Amino acid sequence: MTEAHVTYPVLEHIRKRSYLKSRDEYTAMYKKSIDEPDEFWREQANRLDWFHPFQKVSDCDLANASIRWYEGGKLNVAHNCLDRHLSERGDQTAIIWEADEAKDGRHISYRELHAEVCKTANVLKSMGVKRGDRVCIYLPMIPELAYTMLACARIGAIHSIVFAGFSAESIRDRILDCEAKMVITANEGVRGGKRIALKSIVDKAVEGLEVVESVLVCRRTDTDVPMKSGRDFSFEEACSKQRPTCPAEWMDAEDPLFILYTSGSTGRPKGLLHTTGGYLTYASLTHKYVFDVHPGDVYCCAADIGWVTGHTYIIYGPLANGATTIMFESVPTYPDPGRYWDIVERHKVNIFYTAPTAIRAIAREGDQWVKKYDRSSLRILGTVGEPINPEAWEWYYDVVGEQKCAIVDTWWQTETGGIMITPLPGVNELKPGAATLPFFGVHPCLVDEEGKKIEATEAKGYLCMQAAWPGLARTVYGDHERFKQTYFSQYPGLYFTGDGCNRDKDGDYWITGRVDDVINVSGHRLGTAEIESSINAHPWVAESAVVGYPHEIKGTGILGFVILNANIGDQAKEEIVQAVREQVATDIGKFARPDLILVCPGLPKTRSGKIMRRILRKISVGEYGNLGNVTTLADPSVVDQIIGVHKEMVKK
Ligand code: WT7
Repeated sequence: MTEAHVTYPVLEHIRKRSYLKSRDEYTAMYKKSIDEPDEFWREQANRLDWFHPFQKVSDCDLANASIRWYEGGKLNVAHNCLDRHLSERGDQTAIIWEADEAKDGRHISYRELHAEVCKTANVLKSMGVKRGDRVCIYLPMIPELAYTMLACARIGAIHSIVFAGFSAESIRDRILDCEAKMVITANEGVRGGKRIALKSIVDKAVEGLEVVESVLVCRRTDTDVPMKSGRDFSFEEACSKQRPTCPAEWMDAEDPLFILYTSGSTGRPKGLLHTTGGYLTYASLTHKYVFDVHPGDVYCCAADIGWVTGHTYIIYGPLANGATTIMFESVPTYPDPGRYWDIVERHKVNIFYTAPTAIRAIAREGDQWVKKYDRSSLRILGTVGEPINPEAWEWYYDVVGEQKCAIVDTWWQTETGGIMITPLPGVNELKPGAATLPFFGVHPCLVDEEGKKIEATEAKGYLCMQAAWPGLARTVYGDHERFKQTYFSQYPGLYFTGDGCNRDKDGDYWITGRVDDVINVSGHRLGTAEIESSINAHPWVAESAVVGYPHEIKGTGILGFVILNANIGDQAKEEIVQAVREQVATDIGKFARPDLILVCPGLPKTRSGKIMRRILRKISVGEYGNLGNVTTLADPSVVDQIIGVHKEMVKK
């Protein structure tokens, strides 16, 4: 940490256009946001249209996990994302839909989007969806995903979007947890030239579930799928009967907007609940300043709306700001690894936002895929989801941006609603691998093992927040105690992020990654406990322990140590490994499939039966000689046996 880092000064042509012109300007605004938060956030709320003004800016008590913003205020998110833009930019493109095959894509203006959202809202109402009801959306990246989420917002229903890579089992759990009365899906999804049978996955997910009254099916391909009469309805048919206008509900600032499930170190995924006024204010403000979005800019976030990045930075932030946002249905390597830059050239993209895992995956395909396309429109390059290794950062900066773009390495979480720690264009010099500075209103601190706040600038510790901000999630749906336990109990008075972090002598933050049993695989967040419980469900398996290990493309790969049942006979090793991997793909989703399975004779356990993952993590990176104290193990000899098996696997 004391070593000198390469730094890149602010580029003058970036500063010429940026909203903020200097570090001093940032510092003054930041200081105000921390010293007088209510004043600051009162002003920022003016970014939105309020039907009725709020009475109180904030009422937050982190120690009690009680967070309330803009109470008494009435507004509607869809109105803010659509209606209020119509007079000025009705004909401007709101969404550029970049389809799997580029030729199938289209532009959707604010006026069209408004009409489609209203029709969809009328469909939902006609099918009995009311304010406060939960709607589960399981859709690929098609315009209907935007229509349905905004339609929910318009009528005050709460959407719970489930990434279309999740298994039937995972959808079912999420539907049950939030008691969704409607599920919205598509006949099929199309991704990288392949078709995904979404409707049949939903059929499995909702089978026998009484809470689900209806399934609305969008048509993405010409394949006909079985429709269960009385339950399943065609989205297009339903829309054709509806009018393109629908009044927007007056929602309270603290009314729920959406639930989004995310993994933690223990138990089932948690449904984080975000509300209306604070979330949208935060989404809109961060989108404007972090990406330095100006009128006329074309903005592309290549994430999937199934994750929080897509919620906040494909839909809500950009549309609240009246921007033009791209929805990308395909993958970065289809039809070839030049796809991103093909998009940039065709749509003259100014701001591009993706994940380190995607950057690494296309970087290794060679620079020629980038250089083939004109990228002169690019100004800002963003990254999110996991720590970016300096090599990937440099490649993004040098090759993609030709040293002419500002990079924003944005750290945040599903729980935080929006970006928290990030460079700002025009403000600070860049350091490859550093998320650098807190956004306005964000008050981070580092705490040590004992939970003591570290005052020194140069420090290493657990990243916490000492003040609430409007984008912070309000609760875990249906389980406020769990919300409090998970985030506010380790360090009373602080929000605990679960991340480790270094702060350098300049006060810049470097996120080092999770310190709990959460792993970040290709930017997807997974709990090791979830994967273990899936592996353990396999009839051949007695027990397992999962750890993450460094993976060249994914950032973190998944390694499962597995103990087999005594009575399984002579199954071939290879067959066992494949069966266990498939079990996880089926239970959770393909993106959670373990990279490596190591069949071992035992697991390192303490005398009280706790698996010491620390030892397994060391073994997974080949640090056999550096395992620390193993004398507390019930049977220290298993360690050498596991090392033996691991060595053998590495040899192969
Ligand atoms: C975890 C949150 C919110 C965006 C998508 C992920 C890691 C996220 C960065 C970054 C280092 C990062 C953290 C965090 N993370 N962005 N720029 N640098 N780490 O959301 O699924 O809720 O995961 O992703 O470990 O805790 P998520």
